[in-house]
Amino acid sequence: MNLELDTVRMGETGLEVSEIAFGTWRFGRETAAGNLETDRETAHDLLSAYEAAGGRFIDTANVYGGGDSERWIGEWLEERTREEYVVASKVYWPTREDDPNASGLNRGHLRRQLDLMLERLGTDYLDILYIHRWDDDTPSREFMTTLDEFVTSGRVHYLGASSFRPDTWKLAQANERARHHDREPFSLTQPRYNLVDREIEGEYLDFCREEGLAVFPWSPLAQGFLTGKYTREEGLTGESTASDSNRWEEQYLTGENFETLDVVRAVAEETGATPAQVALAYHRHHPDVTAPLVGARTVEQLEENLRAATVELSGDQFERLEGSKAGPFERFL
Ligand SMILES: NC(=O)c1ccc[n+]([C@@H]2O[C@H](COP(=O)([O-])OP(=O)(O)OC[C@H]3O[C@@H](n4cnc5c(N)ncnc54)[C@H](OP(=O)(O)O)[C@@H]3O)[C@@H](O)[C@H]2O)c1
Repeated sequence: MNLELDTVRMGETGLEVSEIAFGTWRFGRETAAGNLETDRETAHDLLSAYEAAGGRFIDTANVYGGGDSERWIGEWLEERTREEYVVASKVYWPTREDDPNASGLNRGHLRRQLDLMLERLGTDYLDILYIHRWDDDTPSREFMTTLDEFVTSGRVHYLGASSFRPDTWKLAQANERARHHDREPFSLTQPRYNLVDREIEGEYLDFCREEGLAVFPWSPLAQGFLTGKYTREEGLTGESTASDSNRWEEQYLTGENFETLDVVRAVAEETGATPAQVALAYHRHHPDVTAPLVGARTVEQLEENLRAATVELSGDQFERLEGSKAGPFERFL
């Protein structure tokens, strides 16, 4: 692929990361209809296509594909120089149903999971470890000291929080306390954010800007909705695994979202880009976003998405996209 992705600085850290990250949630994942979404061979093809475009920022989690996502990434990395890639993983969700301690951010679960994550990935460090969700059942002091221990021992380089707007004050408090005790704070966040899911606008993004946190939005294409393969009249017009789930359709195929998609389509036509590329270009131009974490089921989809790095939006186009859906606060004004 004739493309060389650039890098951007990760918030106020010293780390450079690819301007578009590749998310591997769908590696080894079983869809609602019971199909395997991405098998091992396709996973390796996708990683190689991302690499061929200069991509070096891979996002996974301990629970993706029951560990297969990390395992397959590790196998792929075996033939490469580990240091050339930024690998991020996450921990929180249950890893065993029969053990109440095998979930969340309690000390034992964190320590066991980090060992397993490093083993599956075939590496002795993670560039980034995220808490996959905030754990209200474990005191933040317990998990912040454990996470700090991971950084101090060199097994993790940076800490991230995959969180939501109601967690904003908890993040602020945890970082304040960490700094007070000279421990490692969170340097980055991973919230859901795309042109139709706007809940982090306002308070959460303001906080990240003030705090100097990097922001890596997940599902930047609203799990495929913003690619334009859905229409009001017919619903899905191409192939997808997302529509296996009725809940997904209820959430995304709404009149309001199609109005946003109309604006995306119009900007796509003006720029000669595809709707998916416009949705990703919006993130690249967004002052509070560091880099989107895009997903793809096929190499063709991934290559289309990565070309978003070449799409330039005018100020007017950016503003129209920004105004295409009301943010969480504007709804009440
Ligand atoms: N922290 C968290 O809690 C969390 C949660 C979710 C995701 N994430 C991270 O974010 C990453 C991305 O999430 P996501 O997979 O939901 O992202 P997404 O980029 O919004 O959606 C990706 C899906 O959209 C469809 N698609 C992508 N490009 C397309 C194209 N050009 N044309 C047509 N369809 C296309 C594909 O599904 P179909 O072809 O099947 O429609 C693809 O699997 C994940 O892999 C993961 O790393 C994190």
